[in-house]
Amino acid sequence: MCGIVGFTGVEQAAPILLRNLQKLEYRGYDSAGIAVECDGKIVSARAVGKLVNLIEQTEDGKTITGTCGIGHTRWATHGSPSENNAHPHMSNNNKFAVVHNGIIENYIALRAELTELGYQFQSETDTEVVAHLLEYYDNGDMKATVMKTVSRLQGSYALGIVCSDHPGELYAVKNQSPLILGVGINEFFFSSDVTALITHTRNVIYLDDGEFAHITKEGIQIYDEFGKEIQKKISRIDWSLEDAEKGGYDHFMLKEIMEQPKALKSAVEPRIINNVINLSEMGLSDDDLKKIDNIIITACGSAYHAGVVGGYVIEDLCHIPVRVEVASELRYRNPPMNERSLLVVISQSGETADTIAALKLAKESGIKTLAIVNVVDSTISKLADGVLYTNAGPEIAVATTKGYTTQVAVISLFAVYLSKLTGKISDEYYSELVADIKSLPERCQRVIDLNTKVEKLAKQYYNNQSLFFIGRNIDYAVSLEASLKLKEISYIHSEAYAAGELKHGTIALIEPNRLVIALACYEKTFDKTMSNIKEVKARGAKVLGVAQEDNKRIISEVDSTLFIPQITPILMPIIETVPMQLFAYYVARENGCDIDKPKNLAKSVTVE
Ligand code: AGP
Repeated sequence: MCGIVGFTGVEQAAPILLRNLQKLEYRGYDSAGIAVECDGKIVSARAVGKLVNLIEQTEDGKTITGTCGIGHTRWATHGSPSENNAHPHMSNNNKFAVVHNGIIENYIALRAELTELGYQFQSETDTEVVAHLLEYYDNGDMKATVMKTVSRLQGSYALGIVCSDHPGELYAVKNQSPLILGVGINEFFFSSDVTALITHTRNVIYLDDGEFAHITKEGIQIYDEFGKEIQKKISRIDWSLEDAEKGGYDHFMLKEIMEQPKALKSAVEPRIINNVINLSEMGLSDDDLKKIDNIIITACGSAYHAGVVGGYVIEDLCHIPVRVEVASELRYRNPPMNERSLLVVISQSGETADTIAALKLAKESGIKTLAIVNVVDSTISKLADGVLYTNAGPEIAVATTKGYTTQVAVISLFAVYLSKLTGKISDEYYSELVADIKSLPERCQRVIDLNTKVEKLAKQYYNNQSLFFIGRNIDYAVSLEASLKLKEISYIHSEAYAAGELKHGTIALIEPNRLVIALACYEKTFDKTMSNIKEVKARGAKVLGVAQEDNKRIISEVDSTLFIPQITPILMPIIETVPMQLFAYYVARENGCDIDKPKNLAKSVTVE
């Protein structure tokens, strides 16, 4: 997600804006910029890459004078990282500069309308439409101009606006993206989060959706969406800077677990229009897809586990063979691929060396390739023929959570799209699946609300030194990710095992008090999994059973249960994984582990 800042006061604005942007760097970004109003003009500076490039370019802000301005760190969603796509964006008459965090969902229509009216666009971004709308509606009354502009926008936005005709003044508008005002002494601020404010002031005002603020050197007026002035309370921030970066959570990992409903919304909502899946941005045509009669999915780590889920879902819905391989193995095999094959690579970072190598192998054979990736303009996204971004936003914790669940959501969306395109499912079933996928954010929130229950279970089981996760079909796919989460942040040994395989050897390891977490949410294989539970119980294992909330049959067979809200198979991988993420988190916390930066691990494995 992007970061926006604004300042008006008596000191020079540029150095303050740059310092405040530095406090937002942890959010992840790929370019940055500032714009300062001075003597009836707006001067801006933008740079790709790290903020230090902008600081050097402006000699730490000294080359830009003025005491009122805005700034931005960009996490690319529309348009690759480039100076032209960096914010602030200017109106054609250079009167207005705007910074934005969020997604203007109707920007394509607005861009067409404004182009028709003769406005020249300099970027590929959605945000630039705001700058030209301000110019179009400018009637000298800034409040009216801002209100009219905002009335045309659909989607999520936190906007910061400065106008050369209104010296010393800022406008800040909030809708779905966070926006906080800082109340200093003869100086006032806005920012995407408190980290950029608390070194100046701990007195803040949280804007709510639809509200906007007129900020001058004398003070702040706040209005509701109808333009009526309202009073808002001033809150006192008592967080440390480090706490603030985590949004008040103890760790980035917990923050990112809690962000999953929002991340899932960004992953699926823009691709479902009037209850029809629209993957037009993918870059592979329907004709390309219709030719496919076999799919290979490859990735590493959790992304591989998302691929395993994808394999089950695609085979179930599209009735074509899907082979799922870890990239570090696929690249050294000679997999049978032909012109009717599709290679799907999955990656949060888009920079994983083994995945890149496997992708290049497929491209050399002329195979069509599709990337499911989070980081815009990453190596993998540029190499693949088609791209579906997961829109999860920056993921800071080494152990992926929202990165994984949005990968599963996007590959499931792709599977449903492909099955409908190739006539493998009925219109009725298609509508049911689309409705299920649309409900993901809300259902994910419901399972996150089990947080306290999971924390209690983690406190009961945190001192186990070796345990098994078992399951069948989709439950097995989830057990892979559940086991990795626990291992990589708590350093406790665990194994994910296909429940049906236990009796072929591994059950020899089951001894009294061995913990077995049995994932038994998949209705079709529930009875079989129950027999495996009985097998391990007979050998003294302790069993934590995970099942759907209406399935009370499991209670008598296990030592403890975790019931999750009723779900359909296509939703299960995500809804069942979230409590396993929380379980791993709380076990690691009980063991005092370095959760966000586990030993020996890197966020992106760019070496082989
Ligand atoms: C996930 O928790 C791990 N940090 C790791 O397995 C990760 O999923 C793997 O390295 C792949 O990374 P990528 O998604 O960026 O390609």
